[in-house]
Amino acid sequence: MRREMFAGNWKMNTTHVEGSVLAEGIVSRLSTSGSDVVLIPPFTGIESVSNIVHSSSVALGAQTMSAQDGGAFTGEISPVMLKSLGCDYVVLGHSERRSLFGETSAQVLEKAVAAVAHGITPIVCVGETLEERESGQALAVIETQVRESMVGLTQEVVVAYEPVWAIGTGKVATPEQAQEVHASIRSVLSDLFSVVVAEDTRILYGGSVKPDNVASIMAQADVDGALIGGASLNADAFVSIIEYNKTSTE
Ligand code: PGA
Repeated sequence: MRREMFAGNWKMNTTHVEGSVLAEGIVSRLSTSGSDVVLIPPFTGIESVSNIVHSSSVALGAQTMSAQDGGAFTGEISPVMLKSLGCDYVVLGHSERRSLFGETSAQVLEKAVAAVAHGITPIVCVGETLEERESGQALAVIETQVRESMVGLTQEVVVAYEPVWAIGTGKVATPEQAQEVHASIRSVLSDLFSVVVAEDTRILYGGSVKPDNVASIMAQADVDGALIGGASLNADAFVSIIEYNKTSTE
């Protein structure tokens, strides 16, 4: 059984003070849930959020990292630094990193190897652009990203499918579109690793996940959780996404 995971990617939002308030709001509203919850503040908020979540079941992640342990890499943050602040997860290859900062799948793989070496679980993001979807290339593009970003990894990894056209746009993939891609990713994982690894790997959906659409996406067999951007900046919205089961049965 794959345990559900909900990760809030705050992107370049929140000062460390605002981040503390948001984290406190989330932790205080969450009832002990059967899911893994991960808060992913900007680097400057990691320490203060860490102080808030360390005595709770909520985990901490970073939005990117260097593949290097340390040294002359101005502006970079290493896995050693992240681990020492209590980060157990790192998002790698988010589409904004790929499109705005030129991050390649080869670099994602290098960073994923470094993360694993330091006991940090990578959340590897993949997804197609609108043009790729409309030209029927979505599954092929995603397969290439999965293979190039993950080949040879030996430890637990989380995959996040985030159609680029759905991120921050309010356009969410239909549950059927999400399921088709998630099932396809799982079969690539099975080929790349093994059936057992593929069955154990959590595949999150990301892209305009909100309290009112989460239940239909989570109902899909191969959707194991969500990576949430905009709605994770509001404690009420984020917690109602995590507790979608409760909300939908009330
Ligand atoms: P969104 O972002 O929920 O604001 O669409 C998702 C993401 O980029 O992880």
